[in-house]
Amino acid sequence: MKIEIFTKSDKETKKLGKVLAREILKTKSKKRAVVISLGGELGSGKTTFTQGFAKGLGVRETPRSPTFVIMQIYRFRTRNLVHVDAYRLNSRDFRMLNWDDFIKNPQNIILVEWGNKIKNILPKNSVRIIFKHIGRPRERLIKIFI
Ligand SMILES: Nc1ncnc2c1ncn2[C@@H]1O[C@H](COP(=O)(O)OP(=O)(O)OP(=O)(O)O)[C@@H](O)[C@H]1O
Ligand SMILES: [Mg+2]
Repeated sequence: MKIEIFTKSDKETKKLGKVLAREILKTKSKKRAVVISLGGELGSGKTTFTQGFAKGLGVRETPRSPTFVIMQIYRFRTRNLVHVDAYRLNSRDFRMLNWDDFIKNPQNIILVEWGNKIKNILPKNSVRIIFKHIGRPRERLIKIFI
């Protein structure tokens, strides 16, 4: 299923992240991690979305771009938000990070910026979200594939 949403500011994109996070928390617990792949060009809103998403989960810190640290883990309740940036990496790099253990852990909700770069190591049922610049500078088209 594909859902298309237009946002007109970073605030609206954060709100979308927050709403989606709340919906995910409501769903029955899974046997494995929930994985969300975030795609779209530079500056399209992936990190901005993640900030709203983290807030929706109840994370206290504000996630920043993880580009230089590869992976940042935030605790909320008894679970983890794992924020990953695959921009400079490939699937082999992730396998070395014990990636399979992250995917197996049902306590993890994993958001992967540039997830398209490591598609082959993401679960088939991952949610895919694509961000696009359109029209005016602050407008974005956000497509969610569930
Ligand atoms: N509608 C909008 N949604 C999201 N961000 C917006 C919007 N309008 C303007 N912006 C601005 O665009 C920028 C988006 O940057 P952000 O770091 O979220 O992008 P990114 O996709 O994570 O980039 P990168 O590929 O470098 O990681 C921010 O400065 C944000 O304030
Ligand atoms: Mg980013």
